[in-house]
Amino acid sequence: MKAAITATAKYLPDSILSNHDLEKILDTSDEWIRTRTGIRERRILRDPEKATSFLCTEVARRIIEKRGIAADEIDLIIVATMTPDMIFPSTACLVQRNVQATNAWAFDLSGACSGFLYALNTGAQFIVAGTHKKVLVIGGEKMSAVMDYTDRNTCVLFGDGAAGVLLEPARDEQHGLLDAKLQADGEGSEHLYMLGGGSRCPASQETVENGMHFLRQDGRQVFKSAVTQMADTAEEIMRRNGLSSEDIGYLVPHQANYRIIQATAERMGIDMRKVAVNIDRYGNTSAATIPICIAELDEEGKLPPGSNLVLVSFGAGYTWGGIYLKWQ
Ligand code: UT7
Repeated sequence: MKAAITATAKYLPDSILSNHDLEKILDTSDEWIRTRTGIRERRILRDPEKATSFLCTEVARRIIEKRGIAADEIDLIIVATMTPDMIFPSTACLVQRNVQATNAWAFDLSGACSGFLYALNTGAQFIVAGTHKKVLVIGGEKMSAVMDYTDRNTCVLFGDGAAGVLLEPARDEQHGLLDAKLQADGEGSEHLYMLGGGSRCPASQETVENGMHFLRQDGRQVFKSAVTQMADTAEEIMRRNGLSSEDIGYLVPHQANYRIIQATAERMGIDMRKVAVNIDRYGNTSAATIPICIAELDEEGKLPPGSNLVLVSFGAGYTWGGIYLKWQ
């Protein structure tokens, strides 16, 4: 048995933070951000009372409504996030309560920007095993909560948002998730991290004073690895599934930098018209970028049954990977 995506939804907060807004608070320019990253604006969840679980709950509600199911039909909820409401309980448990998915178990998955692909493949295993019929997989982030808005190297890149999919048994063996290659290399952990707030550096006056509750990144280092690994993975997924560039409906890459997306597409020999891109509007929403792209393609009617999608990601850990699926 294969697992297929049977419903999608996204939720983006209304408030826009544009490059021009950032020009007013930082030594940066719209021109620099656009040409180096492809980002024009990002969304910010400004209400301090609302966190990642709010974004993910909206996604869960929309998926339940779209699919026309009852919340208690859901067997499992996985939330991929690196900005959970709190370290525990999990954000997935908060979503489970909010939508009253009373028969679901729920957990968070920490895979940073590759979190959604990790979660999608994990969720699919429960369908393949035949033990679960409906698995909700959501990627959601309130990245603004871990941004240092005095650090132009990082804060221009990230935004808030969430999206997700419902996984159910595919109609046949030829549809749904057909291949996955997921990887990790902890040697990359020193290049993209948030030191404070965990068991190594619990919150203290010192961690606050030293800005340790913010995301830090060696952009140049991460860029090089991201280009190599995303392109290599996409190429391998194509090779081992006998896919030519003509066979692919859409490449859905993680949205960290337009130049990384272009390099991946180039290596696959795919025209940019067949690449999902929304980094200009949302920036990097970490675990949410890929499901937001899928939800938009779905909303726009760009996924007829039989479309081949290749999803690829790279993020903190390092974590990276690719998934090949055929839309049903
Ligand atoms: O999603 C998780 C994975 N993350 C990624 O894949 C991100 C990968 N990295 C990147 O996308 C890029 O490395 C960045 C967009 C973060 C940076 O672009 P870059 O072309 O690698 O720039 P750089 O870091 O080499 O910096 C070039 C210059 C530096 O100035 P100097 O040292 O040459 O004088 C930076 O200080 O640009 C400067 N700079 C900025 N200038 C204006 C860095 N950030 C900014 C900024 N505005 N916001």
